[in-house]
Amino acid sequence: MEAGKRYKIACIGAGNVGASAAQYCAEMELGDIVLTDIVEGMPQGKALDLTEAGPIRGYNSVLTGTNDYADIEGADVCIVTAGLPRKPGMTRLDLLKKNGEIITDICENIAKHAPNSTVVTVTNPLDVITYLAFKKLGFPAERVVGMAGCLDSARLRSFVAMELGVSMKIVDTMVLGSHGDDMVPLPEYTTVSGIPITKLLPQDRIDALVERTRKGGGEIVQLLKTGSAYYAPGASAARMAQAIIRDEKQLLPCAAHLTGQYGLDDVYIGVPVMLGKKGVERIVELDLTDAQKDALHNSAGEVREGIKGLQEAGIL
Ligand code: APR
Repeated sequence: MEAGKRYKIACIGAGNVGASAAQYCAEMELGDIVLTDIVEGMPQGKALDLTEAGPIRGYNSVLTGTNDYADIEGADVCIVTAGLPRKPGMTRLDLLKKNGEIITDICENIAKHAPNSTVVTVTNPLDVITYLAFKKLGFPAERVVGMAGCLDSARLRSFVAMELGVSMKIVDTMVLGSHGDDMVPLPEYTTVSGIPITKLLPQDRIDALVERTRKGGGEIVQLLKTGSAYYAPGASAARMAQAIIRDEKQLLPCAAHLTGQYGLDDVYIGVPVMLGKKGVERIVELDLTDAQKDALHNSAGEVREGIKGLQEAGIL
């Protein structure tokens, strides 16, 4: 962290996830926050509401809302959550194209107004959208990173803690692959105070927790009935912003651009990443079993299908 510098975080998309990310960033006093959205008045209203919570919660972040990208000028981190939810009758590809157009427009504005920022993407389908953002921004790959693994691993950590009745704080884990059903949770890297869960739980319980993690987003959608998860996604994006702004060199699972690691080239996928002030400062290669390698390659295959869809639609 540079002494005396006030950092700036732009939350692009001030919907549920964007506003939650802004709230967590303010609570952690990471810097000043600009909420940006196309809906007039909404980001301004949420920023004012969050400002008015400040005296009670004791943060001094300056929160503003805007519909004008000029206001993200000089942002250090841009958290991109803008997008549309899937509507009835829409295929995955329809949604991808729609969100692809939105992300293209946003990236042009980030490149213009915050060319030195590190961009944390959240919009789904995450890995494909992050690849698109990387291509459209023209930033070095270190400064374009996707939020998925942080959320997936937080879910697995919660489920392990709930199962064993231990504090969530002492559970650690690593989740690879793309965000969604193809994620690759790694039970052997899941520990409770350093003890692998394979020593604490029978295999069938581990399998059940892994499966619940895979379907973690869907479980929340089913319960909410309208909309999808936003507290944990917002907290995960803020966690990544914190690692970058505070130059923490945290090892977190994030969607990163691979150039040969894990036998994969020119694709974004969830891998362990060292996050610091330069963004993705290192990609860590773990020893995987053959089954895990296959699962990761399957995951990457799905992401490549999405990339192809964007290319065929002329968006990429
Ligand atoms: N520019 C800026 N904001 C936009 C644009 C755009 N071109 N298009 C849409 N938005 C805004 C919407 O106005 C809305 O406020 O993006 C916001 C999205 O918010 P929500 O609909 O509340 O969605 P949310 O639950 O926050 O999820 C956002 O994160 O986890 C992912 O799958 C989720 O892709 C989704 C994203």
